[in-house]
Amino acid sequence: MLIALYKANIKLILLSLGMIFFMLKPMYLWAQSTENLRQMVLKKAGITLQQKQSIFDDAEVKLGQLLFYDPILSGGKKVSCASCHHPKTGTSDGLSLGLGDGAKGIGKLRKALLDNLPEQRIPRNSPALFNLGQPEFTSFFHDGRLEKDDSRKSGIRTPLEDEMTTGFDSVLSAQAMFPVLSPDEMAGHYSENEISSAVRKGLLTGESGTWDIIAKRVSHIDEYKKRFTALIGNREIHFTDIANVIAKFIDFEWRADQSPFDEFITKNNTLSPKATAGMKLFYGKAKCVSCHTGRFQTDHQFHAIAMPQIGPGKAERFEDHHRDEGRMRVTGNLQDAYKFRTPSLRNVELTSPYGHAGTYLSLDEVIKHHLDPIKSLYTYKPKNLPLPQFDNASDWAILSNESELKKIADANELMPMRLSDNEVENLVEFLKSLTDPISKKGRLGSPKTVPSGLDVD
Ligand code: HEC
Ligand code: HEC
Repeated sequence: MLIALYKANIKLILLSLGMIFFMLKPMYLWAQSTENLRQMVLKKAGITLQQKQSIFDDAEVKLGQLLFYDPILSGGKKVSCASCHHPKTGTSDGLSLGLGDGAKGIGKLRKALLDNLPEQRIPRNSPALFNLGQPEFTSFFHDGRLEKDDSRKSGIRTPLEDEMTTGFDSVLSAQAMFPVLSPDEMAGHYSENEISSAVRKGLLTGESGTWDIIAKRVSHIDEYKKRFTALIGNREIHFTDIANVIAKFIDFEWRADQSPFDEFITKNNTLSPKATAGMKLFYGKAKCVSCHTGRFQTDHQFHAIAMPQIGPGKAERFEDHHRDEGRMRVTGNLQDAYKFRTPSLRNVELTSPYGHAGTYLSLDEVIKHHLDPIKSLYTYKPKNLPLPQFDNASDWAILSNESELKKIADANELMPMRLSDNEVENLVEFLKSLTDPISKKGRLGSPKTVPSGLDVD
Protein backbone atom coordinates (compact mmCIF):
# COMPACT_ATOMS: atom_id res chain seq x y z
CA MET A 1 0.00 0.00 0.00
CA LEU A 2 2.75 2.39 0.96
CA ILE A 3 4.74 1.41 -2.09
CA ALA A 4 1.72 2.01 -4.38
CA LEU A 5 1.23 5.46 -2.90
CA TYR A 6 4.95 6.20 -3.35
CA LYS A 7 4.82 5.16 -7.01
CA ALA A 8 1.76 7.32 -7.66
CA ASN A 9 3.55 10.28 -6.06
CA ILE A 10 6.64 9.77 -8.18
CA LYS A 11 4.46 9.87 -11.29
CA LEU A 12 2.81 13.03 -10.07
CA ILE A 13 6.14 14.66 -9.31
CA LEU A 14 7.53 13.72 -12.72
CA LEU A 15 4.40 15.01 -14.42
CA SER A 16 4.61 18.31 -12.56
CA LEU A 17 8.29 18.69 -13.37
CA GLY A 18 7.49 18.10 -17.02
CA MET A 19 4.78 20.73 -16.97
CA ILE A 20 7.04 23.24 -15.27
CA PHE A 21 9.70 22.58 -17.90
CA PHE A 22 7.22 23.15 -20.73
CA MET A 23 6.10 26.38 -19.15
CA LEU A 24 9.58 27.62 -18.40
CA LYS A 25 11.05 26.90 -21.80
CA PRO A 26 9.13 29.59 -23.72
CA MET A 27 9.80 32.02 -20.86
CA TYR A 28 13.47 31.14 -21.03
CA LEU A 29 13.52 31.55 -24.81
CA TRP A 30 11.69 34.88 -24.54
CA ALA A 31 14.13 36.15 -21.91
CA GLN A 32 16.97 34.95 -24.10
CA SER A 33 15.65 36.78 -27.17
CA THR A 34 15.01 39.97 -25.14
CA GLU A 35 18.59 39.76 -23.88
CA ASN A 36 19.87 39.24 -27.44
CA LEU A 37 17.88 42.25 -28.62
CA ARG A 38 19.25 44.35 -25.76
CA GLN A 39 22.81 43.32 -26.62
CA MET A 40 22.18 44.04 -30.31
CA VAL A 41 20.92 47.56 -29.52
CA LEU A 42 23.81 48.32 -27.15
CA LYS A 43 26.34 47.10 -29.69
CA LYS A 44 24.85 48.74 -32.79
CA ALA A 45 24.45 52.09 -31.03
CA GLY A 46 27.81 51.86 -29.22
CA ILE A 47 26.10 52.50 -25.87
CA THR A 48 27.97 51.77 -22.65
CA LEU A 49 25.97 51.87 -19.48
CA GLN A 50 28.44 53.99 -17.53
CA GLN A 51 27.23 57.56 -17.29
CA LYS A 52 28.58 60.83 -16.09
CA GLN A 53 26.90 61.83 -12.85
CA SER A 54 26.44 65.57 -12.66
CA ILE A 55 26.53 67.30 -9.29
CA PHE A 56 24.30 70.33 -9.03
CA ASP A 57 24.35 73.30 -6.71
CA ASP A 58 20.75 74.28 -5.91
CA ALA A 59 21.57 77.99 -5.73
CA GLU A 60 23.20 77.97 -9.18
CA VAL A 61 20.39 76.02 -10.81
CA LYS A 62 17.67 78.23 -9.30
CA LEU A 63 19.46 81.41 -10.39
CA GLY A 64 19.85 79.97 -13.90
CA GLN A 65 16.12 79.19 -13.95
CA LEU A 66 15.20 82.79 -13.08
CA LEU A 67 17.48 84.23 -15.76
CA PHE A 68 16.26 81.74 -18.38
CA TYR A 69 12.67 82.91 -17.91
CA ASP A 70 13.49 86.62 -17.41
CA PRO A 71 13.03 88.96 -20.43
CA ILE A 72 15.60 91.30 -18.84
CA LEU A 73 18.28 89.70 -21.06
CA SER A 74 16.59 91.02 -24.22
CA GLY A 75 16.96 94.52 -25.66
CA GLY A 76 13.24 95.37 -25.55
CA LYS A 77 12.70 93.41 -22.27
CA LYS A 78 9.96 91.28 -23.82
CA VAL A 79 11.72 88.12 -25.00
CA SER A 80 13.27 85.50 -22.72
CA CYS A 81 15.01 82.24 -23.58
CA ALA A 82 11.72 80.55 -22.68
CA SER A 83 9.86 82.50 -25.40
CA CYS A 84 11.37 80.01 -27.86
CA HIS A 85 12.34 77.17 -25.51
CA HIS A 86 9.30 76.54 -23.32
CA PRO A 87 8.54 73.35 -21.40
CA LYS A 88 4.91 73.56 -22.59
CA THR A 89 6.18 73.02 -26.13
CA GLY A 90 8.88 70.45 -25.39
CA THR A 91 11.60 73.13 -24.76
CA SER A 92 11.10 74.34 -28.32
CA ASP A 93 8.37 76.77 -29.42
CA GLY A 94 5.89 74.48 -31.15
CA LEU A 95 6.24 76.60 -34.31
CA SER A 96 7.81 75.79 -37.67
CA LEU A 97 9.71 79.07 -37.56
CA GLY A 98 9.30 81.41 -34.61
CA LEU A 99 9.35 85.14 -34.03
CA GLY A 100 11.69 86.79 -31.55
CA ASP A 101 11.90 90.48 -30.73
CA GLY A 102 8.63 92.15 -31.65
CA ALA A 103 6.37 89.24 -30.71
CA LYS A 104 4.65 87.96 -27.59
CA GLY A 105 3.11 84.66 -26.40
CA ILE A 106 4.04 80.99 -26.34
CA GLY A 107 3.54 78.44 -29.10
CA LYS A 108 0.52 78.92 -31.34
CA LEU A 109 -0.46 82.00 -29.31
CA ARG A 110 2.73 83.81 -30.36
CA LYS A 111 1.81 87.02 -32.21
CA ALA A 112 3.73 89.85 -33.83
CA LEU A 113 3.28 93.14 -31.96
CA LEU A 114 1.93 95.86 -34.21
CA ASP A 115 3.91 98.64 -32.52
CA ASN A 116 7.26 96.90 -33.05
CA LEU A 117 6.96 94.51 -35.99
CA PRO A 118 9.73 91.90 -36.32
CA GLU A 119 11.90 92.23 -39.46
CA GLN A 120 11.69 88.58 -40.40
CA ARG A 121 10.93 85.14 -39.07
CA ILE A 122 13.68 83.30 -37.22
CA PRO A 123 15.19 81.31 -40.12
CA ARG A 124 15.39 77.94 -38.36
CA ASN A 125 13.22 75.76 -36.19
CA SER A 126 13.94 76.22 -32.50
CA PRO A 127 15.66 73.07 -31.23
CA ALA A 128 14.79 71.29 -28.00
CA LEU A 129 17.23 71.59 -25.08
CA PHE A 130 17.22 68.01 -23.74
CA ASN A 131 20.45 66.43 -22.44
CA LEU A 132 22.63 69.26 -23.79
CA GLY A 133 24.73 69.20 -20.60
CA GLN A 134 25.86 65.65 -21.36
CA PRO A 135 29.47 65.33 -22.57
CA GLU A 136 28.45 63.85 -25.94
CA PHE A 137 26.96 67.21 -27.01
CA THR A 138 29.91 69.21 -28.30
CA SER A 139 28.44 71.05 -31.29
CA PHE A 140 25.47 73.37 -31.20
CA PHE A 141 22.95 74.82 -33.66
CA HIS A 142 21.59 73.03 -36.74
CA ASP A 143 24.89 73.72 -38.52
CA GLY A 144 27.30 73.20 -35.57
CA ARG A 145 28.69 76.72 -35.86
CA LEU A 146 29.54 76.65 -32.18
CA GLU A 147 31.66 73.65 -31.29
CA LYS A 148 34.24 72.23 -28.95
CA ASP A 149 37.71 72.66 -30.46
CA ASP A 150 40.66 71.63 -28.33
CA SER A 151 43.15 73.18 -30.76
CA ARG A 152 42.05 76.63 -29.59
CA LYS A 153 43.11 78.22 -26.37
CA SER A 154 39.50 78.74 -25.31
CA GLY A 155 38.59 75.16 -26.33
CA ILE A 156 35.67 76.57 -28.35
CA ARG A 157 35.19 77.48 -32.01
CA THR A 158 32.58 80.16 -32.65
CA PRO A 159 31.65 82.49 -35.51
CA LEU A 160 32.84 85.32 -33.26
CA GLU A 161 36.34 83.86 -33.38
CA ASP A 162 38.29 84.95 -30.37
CA GLU A 163 35.99 87.65 -29.07
CA MET A 164 35.09 86.69 -25.55
CA THR A 165 35.41 82.93 -25.46
CA THR A 166 37.06 82.67 -22.09
CA GLY A 167 35.26 82.38 -18.78
CA PHE A 168 32.59 80.01 -20.07
CA ASP A 169 32.37 76.72 -18.14
CA SER A 170 31.32 74.75 -21.23
CA VAL A 171 30.33 75.04 -24.89
CA LEU A 172 26.70 74.96 -23.75
CA SER A 173 27.40 77.97 -21.59
CA ALA A 174 29.08 79.85 -24.47
CA GLN A 175 25.91 79.24 -26.48
CA ALA A 176 24.04 81.85 -24.41
CA MET A 177 26.12 84.64 -25.92
CA PHE A 178 24.41 84.25 -29.31
CA PRO A 179 20.66 84.75 -28.84
CA VAL A 180 21.23 87.94 -26.85
CA LEU A 181 23.22 89.40 -29.77
CA SER A 182 20.77 88.48 -32.50
CA PRO A 183 18.55 91.41 -33.49
CA ASP A 184 15.77 89.02 -34.59
CA GLU A 185 15.92 86.83 -31.49
CA MET A 186 16.53 89.00 -28.43
CA ALA A 187 18.51 92.21 -29.09
CA GLY A 188 16.00 94.09 -31.24
CA HIS A 189 16.65 96.29 -34.26
CA TYR A 190 18.46 99.53 -35.08
CA SER A 191 18.72 101.87 -32.16
CA GLU A 192 15.45 101.05 -30.45
CA ASN A 193 17.25 100.15 -27.21
CA GLU A 194 20.73 100.32 -25.65
CA ILE A 195 21.48 96.68 -26.49
CA SER A 196 20.44 96.82 -30.14
CA SER A 197 22.44 100.05 -30.56
CA ALA A 198 25.56 98.39 -29.18
CA VAL A 199 25.06 95.36 -31.44
CA ARG A 200 24.58 97.64 -34.43
CA LYS A 201 27.83 99.45 -33.70
CA GLY A 202 29.59 96.10 -33.43
CA LEU A 203 30.39 96.69 -29.77
CA LEU A 204 30.40 93.30 -28.13
CA THR A 205 33.22 93.04 -25.62
CA GLY A 206 34.67 95.50 -23.14
CA GLU A 207 32.97 98.22 -21.18
CA SER A 208 29.72 99.41 -22.84
CA GLY A 209 29.82 96.36 -25.11
CA THR A 210 26.59 94.35 -25.42
CA TRP A 211 27.47 91.67 -22.89
CA ASP A 212 28.60 94.29 -20.39
CA ILE A 213 25.32 96.22 -20.74
CA ILE A 214 23.36 93.01 -20.07
CA ALA A 215 25.50 92.10 -17.05
CA LYS A 216 25.01 95.63 -15.63
CA ARG A 217 21.25 95.44 -16.13
CA VAL A 218 21.20 92.21 -14.16
CA SER A 219 23.47 93.48 -11.38
CA HIS A 220 21.24 96.53 -10.85
CA ILE A 221 18.44 94.23 -9.69
CA ASP A 222 18.94 93.61 -5.96
CA GLU A 223 17.67 90.04 -5.96
CA TYR A 224 20.10 89.03 -8.72
CA LYS A 225 23.00 90.91 -7.10
CA LYS A 226 22.33 89.10 -3.81
CA ARG A 227 22.09 85.68 -5.41
CA PHE A 228 25.26 86.18 -7.50
CA THR A 229 27.22 87.54 -4.53
CA ALA A 230 26.40 84.34 -2.65
CA LEU A 231 27.91 82.35 -5.53
CA ILE A 232 30.85 84.38 -6.83
CA GLY A 233 31.60 86.77 -3.96
CA ASN A 234 31.29 90.51 -4.02
CA ARG A 235 32.80 91.16 -7.46
CA GLU A 236 31.32 92.57 -10.65
CA ILE A 237 28.92 90.21 -12.44
CA HIS A 238 30.16 89.25 -15.92
CA PHE A 239 28.06 87.96 -18.80
CA THR A 240 29.92 84.66 -18.49
CA ASP A 241 28.57 84.26 -14.93
CA ILE A 242 25.04 84.63 -16.33
CA ALA A 243 25.75 82.16 -19.15
CA ASN A 244 27.29 79.63 -16.77
CA VAL A 245 24.28 79.45 -14.44
CA ILE A 246 21.85 79.26 -17.38
CA ALA A 247 23.85 76.27 -18.69
CA LYS A 248 23.72 74.61 -15.26
CA PHE A 249 19.95 75.11 -15.23
CA ILE A 250 19.49 73.61 -18.72
CA ASP A 251 21.64 70.63 -17.72
CA PHE A 252 19.66 70.01 -14.53
CA GLU A 253 16.17 70.83 -15.73
CA TRP A 254 16.15 68.96 -19.03
CA ARG A 255 18.20 65.87 -18.46
CA ALA A 256 16.06 63.24 -20.14
CA ASP A 257 17.47 59.76 -19.84
CA GLN A 258 14.86 57.87 -17.82
CA SER A 259 12.57 56.82 -20.66
CA PRO A 260 11.07 53.35 -21.23
CA PHE A 261 13.94 52.83 -23.73
CA ASP A 262 16.47 53.49 -20.95
CA GLU A 263 14.63 51.07 -18.72
CA PHE A 264 14.87 48.52 -21.50
CA ILE A 265 18.63 48.87 -21.95
CA THR A 266 19.23 48.76 -18.20
CA LYS A 267 17.08 45.61 -17.93
CA ASN A 268 14.36 47.15 -15.81
CA ASN A 269 11.58 46.89 -18.33
CA THR A 270 10.51 45.67 -21.75
CA LEU A 271 8.75 47.64 -24.49
CA SER A 272 5.34 46.98 -26.03
CA PRO A 273 5.32 44.55 -28.99
CA LYS A 274 4.88 47.42 -31.50
CA ALA A 275 7.69 49.50 -29.98
CA THR A 276 9.89 46.40 -29.86
CA ALA A 277 9.23 45.77 -33.55
CA GLY A 278 10.05 49.46 -34.22
CA MET A 279 13.27 49.18 -32.23
CA LYS A 280 14.33 46.13 -34.27
CA LEU A 281 13.74 48.13 -37.45
CA PHE A 282 15.52 51.24 -36.12
CA TYR A 283 18.66 49.29 -35.21
CA GLY A 284 18.30 46.78 -38.06
CA LYS A 285 16.70 46.83 -41.49
CA ALA A 286 15.73 50.53 -41.57
CA LYS A 287 19.34 51.56 -40.70
CA CYS A 288 18.26 54.61 -38.72
CA VAL A 289 21.17 53.86 -36.39
CA SER A 290 23.70 54.69 -39.10
CA CYS A 291 23.06 58.38 -38.24
CA HIS A 292 20.84 58.29 -35.14
CA THR A 293 23.35 56.39 -33.02
CA GLY A 294 24.77 56.53 -29.47
CA ARG A 295 22.94 57.06 -26.22
CA PHE A 296 20.98 60.02 -27.59
CA GLN A 297 20.23 58.73 -31.10
CA THR A 298 22.63 61.11 -32.88
CA ASP A 299 26.12 60.78 -34.36
CA HIS A 300 26.56 64.56 -33.78
CA GLN A 301 27.54 64.78 -37.46
CA PHE A 302 26.04 66.55 -40.47
CA HIS A 303 24.05 64.95 -43.28
CA ALA A 304 22.10 66.13 -46.30
CA ILE A 305 18.69 64.47 -46.40
CA ALA A 306 16.82 66.94 -48.67
CA MET A 307 14.58 68.30 -45.93
CA PRO A 308 12.22 70.96 -47.42
CA GLN A 309 13.07 74.55 -46.50
CA ILE A 310 10.74 77.44 -45.92
CA GLY A 311 11.24 80.94 -44.54
CA PRO A 312 13.88 83.63 -45.01
CA GLY A 313 16.89 81.25 -45.09
CA LYS A 314 20.33 82.02 -43.70
CA ALA A 315 21.64 84.88 -45.78
CA GLU A 316 23.65 87.90 -44.69
CA ARG A 317 21.65 91.12 -44.73
CA PHE A 318 23.36 92.17 -47.99
CA GLU A 319 22.50 88.89 -49.76
CA ASP A 320 19.10 88.52 -51.35
CA HIS A 321 18.67 84.73 -51.59
CA HIS A 322 16.51 82.64 -49.25
CA ARG A 323 18.75 79.58 -49.14
CA ASP A 324 19.88 77.76 -46.05
CA GLU A 325 23.01 75.87 -47.04
CA GLY A 326 23.52 74.46 -43.54
CA ARG A 327 26.98 73.20 -42.62
CA MET A 328 28.59 74.73 -45.74
CA ARG A 329 28.18 78.21 -44.31
CA VAL A 330 30.38 77.15 -41.41
CA THR A 331 33.14 75.19 -43.18
CA GLY A 332 33.09 76.76 -46.65
CA ASN A 333 33.32 73.24 -48.16
CA LEU A 334 31.06 72.47 -51.10
CA GLN A 335 30.67 68.87 -49.84
CA ASP A 336 28.90 70.27 -46.79
CA ALA A 337 26.12 71.96 -48.77
CA TYR A 338 22.66 71.42 -47.28
CA LYS A 339 23.99 69.23 -44.48
CA PHE A 340 22.35 69.66 -41.09
CA ARG A 341 23.19 68.13 -37.74
CA THR A 342 21.54 64.80 -36.98
CA PRO A 343 19.09 65.73 -34.22
CA SER A 344 18.88 63.71 -31.01
CA LEU A 345 15.57 61.84 -30.94
CA ARG A 346 15.09 62.02 -27.15
CA ASN A 347 11.55 63.29 -26.40
CA VAL A 348 11.00 63.76 -30.13
CA GLU A 349 7.31 62.99 -29.50
CA LEU A 350 7.09 66.36 -27.69
CA THR A 351 8.97 68.57 -30.16
CA SER A 352 6.87 68.85 -33.35
CA PRO A 353 7.31 70.45 -35.92
CA TYR A 354 10.33 68.59 -37.30
CA GLY A 355 13.33 69.35 -39.53
CA HIS A 356 15.57 72.44 -39.48
CA ALA A 357 12.77 74.57 -40.88
CA GLY A 358 9.92 72.77 -39.10
CA THR A 359 8.28 71.55 -42.30
CA TYR A 360 6.77 68.30 -40.99
CA LEU A 361 4.13 68.17 -38.29
CA SER A 362 4.02 64.47 -37.44
CA LEU A 363 6.61 61.76 -36.79
CA ASP A 364 4.91 59.65 -39.41
CA GLU A 365 5.50 62.34 -42.07
CA VAL A 366 9.12 63.02 -41.18
CA ILE A 367 9.96 59.29 -41.17
CA LYS A 368 8.26 58.90 -44.56
CA HIS A 369 10.41 61.78 -45.86
CA HIS A 370 13.49 59.67 -44.99
CA LEU A 371 12.18 56.77 -47.12
CA ASP A 372 12.41 58.74 -50.38
CA PRO A 373 13.89 62.16 -49.65
CA ILE A 374 14.05 63.52 -53.20
CA LYS A 375 10.51 62.54 -54.15
CA SER A 376 9.30 63.83 -50.81
CA LEU A 377 11.05 67.19 -51.40
CA TYR A 378 9.58 67.64 -54.89
CA THR A 379 6.06 66.69 -53.85
CA TYR A 380 6.14 68.57 -50.54
CA LYS A 381 3.10 70.80 -49.89
CA PRO A 382 3.03 72.82 -46.66
CA LYS A 383 -0.17 71.99 -44.78
CA ASN A 384 -1.36 73.76 -41.62
CA LEU A 385 2.16 74.66 -40.54
CA PRO A 386 2.16 76.59 -37.28
CA LEU A 387 3.60 79.91 -38.48
CA PRO A 388 2.61 83.09 -36.65
CA GLN A 389 0.80 85.55 -38.91
CA PHE A 390 3.44 87.82 -40.42
CA ASP A 391 2.77 89.85 -43.54
CA ASN A 392 6.31 90.53 -44.72
CA ALA A 393 7.24 86.87 -44.81
CA SER A 394 8.62 85.26 -47.96
CA ASP A 395 7.96 81.76 -46.73
CA TRP A 396 7.74 79.79 -49.96
CA ALA A 397 10.58 81.34 -52.01
CA ILE A 398 12.63 78.13 -52.08
CA LEU A 399 9.72 75.71 -52.53
CA SER A 400 8.56 77.55 -55.64
CA ASN A 401 12.00 77.73 -57.26
CA GLU A 402 12.94 74.66 -59.34
CA SER A 403 16.66 75.39 -59.43
CA GLU A 404 16.85 75.88 -55.65
CA LEU A 405 14.98 72.61 -55.10
CA LYS A 406 17.39 70.85 -57.44
CA LYS A 407 20.37 72.04 -55.40
CA ILE A 408 18.86 70.57 -52.24
CA ALA A 409 17.99 67.33 -54.05
CA ASP A 410 21.47 66.99 -55.61
CA ALA A 411 23.11 67.13 -52.18
CA ASN A 412 20.96 64.33 -50.74
CA GLU A 413 22.91 61.37 -49.38
CA LEU A 414 20.08 59.17 -48.10
CA MET A 415 19.17 56.21 -50.34
CA PRO A 416 15.46 55.44 -50.84
CA MET A 417 14.10 52.48 -48.89
CA ARG A 418 10.76 50.64 -48.77
CA LEU A 419 8.93 50.22 -45.48
CA SER A 420 5.25 49.34 -45.09
CA ASP A 421 2.84 51.70 -43.30
CA ASN A 422 2.76 49.19 -40.48
CA GLU A 423 6.54 49.32 -40.15
CA VAL A 424 6.49 53.14 -40.08
CA GLU A 425 3.83 52.93 -37.35
CA ASN A 426 6.11 50.64 -35.35
CA LEU A 427 9.01 53.09 -35.75
CA VAL A 428 6.76 55.87 -34.43
CA GLU A 429 5.90 53.68 -31.41
CA PHE A 430 9.60 53.10 -30.80
CA LEU A 431 10.32 56.85 -30.98
CA LYS A 432 7.61 57.41 -28.35
CA SER A 433 9.49 55.05 -26.02
CA LEU A 434 12.25 57.70 -25.98
CA THR A 435 10.05 60.08 -24.00
CA ASP A 436 11.16 60.67 -20.41
CA PRO A 437 7.98 61.36 -18.39
CA ILE A 438 9.68 64.10 -16.35
CA SER A 439 10.37 66.11 -19.50
CA LYS A 440 6.67 66.82 -19.91
CA LYS A 441 6.91 69.43 -17.18
CA GLY A 442 10.57 69.78 -16.23
CA ARG A 443 11.96 69.52 -12.71
CA LEU A 444 11.63 73.08 -11.40
CA GLY A 445 9.06 74.14 -14.01
CA SER A 446 8.53 77.79 -14.89
CA PRO A 447 8.69 80.43 -12.15
CA LYS A 448 5.58 82.57 -11.52
CA THR A 449 7.61 85.75 -11.23
CA VAL A 450 11.18 86.82 -11.99
CA PRO A 451 13.37 89.33 -10.10
CA SER A 452 13.08 92.04 -12.80
CA GLY A 453 9.31 92.06 -12.23
CA LEU A 454 8.80 91.76 -16.01
CA ASP A 455 6.09 89.46 -17.43
CA VAL A 456 6.97 85.75 -17.54
CA ASP A 457 5.76 83.81 -20.60
C1 HEC B 1 13.52 83.96 -30.81
C2 HEC B 1 13.67 82.61 -30.45
C3 HEC B 1 14.82 82.20 -29.56
C4 HEC B 1 15.21 82.77 -28.36
C5 HEC B 1 14.64 83.97 -27.67
C6 HEC B 1 16.28 81.93 -27.86
N1 HEC B 1 16.53 80.91 -28.72
FE1 HEC B 1 17.80 79.40 -28.45
N2 HEC B 1 17.55 78.83 -30.35
C7 HEC B 1 16.60 79.34 -31.22
C8 HEC B 1 16.83 78.81 -32.56
C9 HEC B 1 16.00 79.09 -33.79
C10 HEC B 1 17.98 77.99 -32.47
C11 HEC B 1 18.65 77.25 -33.64
C12 HEC B 1 19.48 78.27 -34.41
C13 HEC B 1 20.34 77.68 -35.51
O1 HEC B 1 20.51 76.47 -35.58
O2 HEC B 1 20.86 78.45 -36.31
C14 HEC B 1 18.39 78.01 -31.06
C15 HEC B 1 19.43 77.26 -30.53
C16 HEC B 1 19.69 77.16 -29.17
C17 HEC B 1 20.59 76.20 -28.56
C18 HEC B 1 21.37 75.12 -29.29
C19 HEC B 1 20.60 73.85 -29.25
C20 HEC B 1 21.23 72.77 -30.07
O3 HEC B 1 20.76 71.63 -29.99
O4 HEC B 1 22.17 73.03 -30.83
C21 HEC B 1 20.58 76.44 -27.21
C22 HEC B 1 21.37 75.69 -26.14
C23 HEC B 1 19.72 77.57 -26.99
N3 HEC B 1 19.18 77.96 -28.20
C24 HEC B 1 19.51 78.17 -25.76
C25 HEC B 1 18.95 79.45 -25.65
C26 HEC B 1 19.11 80.31 -24.48
C27 HEC B 1 19.91 79.96 -23.23
C28 HEC B 1 18.42 81.45 -24.75
C29 HEC B 1 18.33 82.70 -23.90
C30 HEC B 1 19.58 83.35 -23.57
C31 HEC B 1 17.81 81.28 -26.07
N4 HEC B 1 18.19 80.07 -26.59
C32 HEC B 1 16.97 82.19 -26.68
C33 HEC B 1 15.60 80.21 -30.88
C34 HEC B 1 15.66 81.04 -29.78
C1 HEC C 1 21.90 59.76 -43.36
C2 HEC C 1 21.65 59.96 -41.94
C3 HEC C 1 20.26 59.66 -41.43
C4 HEC C 1 19.58 58.47 -41.41
C5 HEC C 1 20.04 57.12 -41.98
C6 HEC C 1 18.32 58.72 -40.74
N1 HEC C 1 18.24 60.03 -40.35
FE1 HEC C 1 16.71 60.90 -39.36
N2 HEC C 1 17.58 62.71 -39.60
C7 HEC C 1 18.84 62.93 -40.12
C8 HEC C 1 19.10 64.35 -40.20
C9 HEC C 1 20.39 65.00 -40.72
C10 HEC C 1 17.94 64.99 -39.74
C11 HEC C 1 17.69 66.50 -39.68
C12 HEC C 1 17.61 67.05 -41.08
C13 HEC C 1 17.24 68.50 -41.19
O1 HEC C 1 16.75 69.08 -40.24
O2 HEC C 1 17.46 69.04 -42.27
C14 HEC C 1 17.01 63.92 -39.33
C15 HEC C 1 15.77 64.13 -38.75
C16 HEC C 1 14.99 63.12 -38.21
C17 HEC C 1 13.79 63.34 -37.44
C18 HEC C 1 13.23 64.70 -37.04
C19 HEC C 1 13.77 65.11 -35.71
C20 HEC C 1 13.61 66.56 -35.38
O3 HEC C 1 13.74 66.89 -34.20
O4 HEC C 1 13.40 67.38 -36.26
C21 HEC C 1 13.30 62.11 -37.11
C22 HEC C 1 12.06 61.81 -36.28
C23 HEC C 1 14.18 61.14 -37.68
N3 HEC C 1 15.21 61.77 -38.34
C24 HEC C 1 14.01 59.75 -37.59
C25 HEC C 1 14.72 58.85 -38.36
C26 HEC C 1 14.35 57.46 -38.50
C27 HEC C 1 13.18 56.77 -37.83
C28 HEC C 1 15.26 56.89 -39.35
C29 HEC C 1 15.28 55.48 -39.92
C30 HEC C 1 14.14 55.19 -40.76
C31 HEC C 1 16.22 57.94 -39.72
N4 HEC C 1 15.84 59.10 -39.11
C32 HEC C 1 17.34 57.75 -40.53
C33 HEC C 1 19.73 61.96 -40.54
C34 HEC C 1 19.40 60.63 -40.75
